[in-house]
Amino acid sequence: MQISNKPVSGPITDAAQKSRFGGRYLLDQVGRTPPPSDYFAKLAALRVLLIRQNYRAGLALDVCCGAGGFLLPVAPFTDRLLGIDFSPGLISMAQRLVEDVGAASVACVQGDAKRLPLRAESATLAYSFSALYYVPDVGQAVRECARVLVPGGIALLEFGVRSSLNTVVSRAYQDSPIPCHLPLRRIYRTVRQAGFTIEQDRAFQLLPLWGDRPRWLKPLLHRGFRRLAAAEVAGRMLDERVSSLPPLRPLAFRHLLVCRKDPHR
Ligand SMILES: C[S@@+](CC[C@H](N)C(=O)[O-])C[C@H]1O[C@@H](n2cnc3c(N)ncnc32)[C@H](O)[C@@H]1O
Repeated sequence: MQISNKPVSGPITDAAQKSRFGGRYLLDQVGRTPPPSDYFAKLAALRVLLIRQNYRAGLALDVCCGAGGFLLPVAPFTDRLLGIDFSPGLISMAQRLVEDVGAASVACVQGDAKRLPLRAESATLAYSFSALYYVPDVGQAVRECARVLVPGGIALLEFGVRSSLNTVVSRAYQDSPIPCHLPLRRIYRTVRQAGFTIEQDRAFQLLPLWGDRPRWLKPLLHRGFRRLAAAEVAGRMLDERVSSLPPLRPLAFRHLLVCRKDPHR
């Protein structure tokens, strides 16, 4: 397989992205449960905590829910939860997961984040993890989140920053979904233009913490960094502490924004 660190030339289409969420990506989802001490397991626990802290009542949405990893942990403290994903393979995995445990308050539907199958102002909270950085023209997906939320509703939206080492690693995996990472300032602008106020920006992954390509980056891809990144410093992971330092923040890959829809919009 040919490996290059260059960005994909030409426009990235939704159809191309959708096809890349089949195949190997789908297989990778099966049986993936890291131990609780793992960096990504800790990140997952933090996301669930943030949902819990921000949810009050009503319908919650998991936008781009994938195989449903954030449906079952959220179901116990939400009245109603809807998972939406455009991949037929992944949404059926999510549906099976929900049916297997008989989670009656959770539903899954195939749909596009850029055309959410919901009425305006029908949800109180929406979250989207590890997904918006694969969406070309992500502004449309963010505007959709704003449309379906009630005034004052909360969106927990995770974006990927282009000027990060993670972008270099992602580009080395050409059979994976194409990265649609953006400069941090553009992310902020996109979210604000959709009618949100950013209440928190939680920054992560100054180092990629996954992958083994490209070869020249190998010293920084050592697994030991992932263990170190997960270490706790005054209640937060060391990775978040370092990624949040002002000069480093625009170089950290993952930004989890806690956003509130303008109550008067
Ligand atoms: C890396 S997975 C993350 C899944 C899940 N949020 C999680 O954190 O486990 C990204 C997901 O985004 C979905 N996705 C990407 N673009 C989408 C779009 N425009 N509409 C709906 N789903 C989309 C993919 O099908 C895939 O399931």
